[in-house]
Amino acid sequence: MRLFIDSANLDEIRKAAEYGIVDGVTTNPSLIAKEGHDPYDQIRAICGVIDGDISAEVVSTETGAMVAEGRDLARIHDNIVVKIPLIRNGIKAVKTLAGEGIRTNVTLCFSPMQALLAAKAGAYLVSPFMGRLDDIALDGCDLIREIVAVYENYGYATQVLAASARGPLHVKEAALAGAHVATLPYKVFDRLFDHPLTDIGLEKFLADYRKTLEQASAA
Ligand code: E4P
Repeated sequence: MRLFIDSANLDEIRKAAEYGIVDGVTTNPSLIAKEGHDPYDQIRAICGVIDGDISAEVVSTETGAMVAEGRDLARIHDNIVVKIPLIRNGIKAVKTLAGEGIRTNVTLCFSPMQALLAAKAGAYLVSPFMGRLDDIALDGCDLIREIVAVYENYGYATQVLAASARGPLHVKEAALAGAHVATLPYKVFDRLFDHPLTDIGLEKFLADYRKTLEQASAA
């Protein structure tokens, strides 16, 4: 399973990159806006930190403008994946961009039927939003399972990117469902490391070792 960082913040992306296990970055217009820099400069800087898929989202909603924006974004770096919202015009744009060899990440996906449309248009990635479904008392984990099953039934090459993860449980469910990728805010990524028994176990190992050394040197 590939792990992406869902952030446009360079400090967070650099911290996550230090582990050598992060495979890419997803951004969206809200995350980019939060950083307060020129969007293209920000995307370019992110490409300099992580050598992997970097999703950059269009902000147009007409097909022609989405395609033009997608081409501009794709020119920033070979690793760019153009993020396109799952609307009618977006699906047309995905089809055109796919025909030009430009990889797309179809975002704001909330149903298996929408995911089917993205795959038929030739999307490289589809991003079902788990957390935002949970927020309205629907099951984000079910959505991932259903999309994976539909894609497996027909052998679609589109990869399922579990997005809008709110905590480690979403990552576990996405992995069990067979999602190809999970994108995580830095704080969710960081929490994957933690288990109280790991800390207690390590403390005991080191204390036992120190005690034995002290006894040996006293003997
Ligand atoms: C996906 O690529 C989106 O950027 C992201 O996961 C949205 O997450 P949110 O629902 O926490 O905003």
